[in-house]
Amino acid sequence: MPLITWDQSLSVNVPDLDAQHRRLVEMINELHEAMTKGQGREALKPLLGGLAQYTMTHFRAEEQYMRTINYPNLPQHKAEHERLVRRVKELTQSYESSQISLTIETMNFLRDWLTNHIRRVDRQYAPSTAATRNG
Ligand SMILES: [Fe+2]
Repeated sequence: MPLITWDQSLSVNVPDLDAQHRRLVEMINELHEAMTKGQGREALKPLLGGLAQYTMTHFRAEEQYMRTINYPNLPQHKAEHERLVRRVKELTQSYESSQISLTIETMNFLRDWLTNHIRRVDRQYAPSTAATRNG
């Protein structure tokens, strides 16, 4: 059972950004799977590090998209991204320096960290299907 299943409630109606969000979902699922299989710290570290890295790449692409549509809430959205990056970096550093273990609570935190942001913040820039229909 994957930890997160991508569905339309996570769609922002922008194909490239949906693809990147699906990749993030996949990366969290891979980490979750490795954790539940009892893989060791050395196997999990690169997965967590890769997630932190890809998150930053994705946020840059998303901010670029918001610039192209002149999205008015870009500054607030960017600030939210900075908070999210700080949290995932803190988690990665604590894990890499062996201060914490990856537990189901950590995984649930990562699941909520991603899905809450997409549903509550990202979907605000989503072109609505109604707007598309009305041209
Ligand atoms: Fe975002």
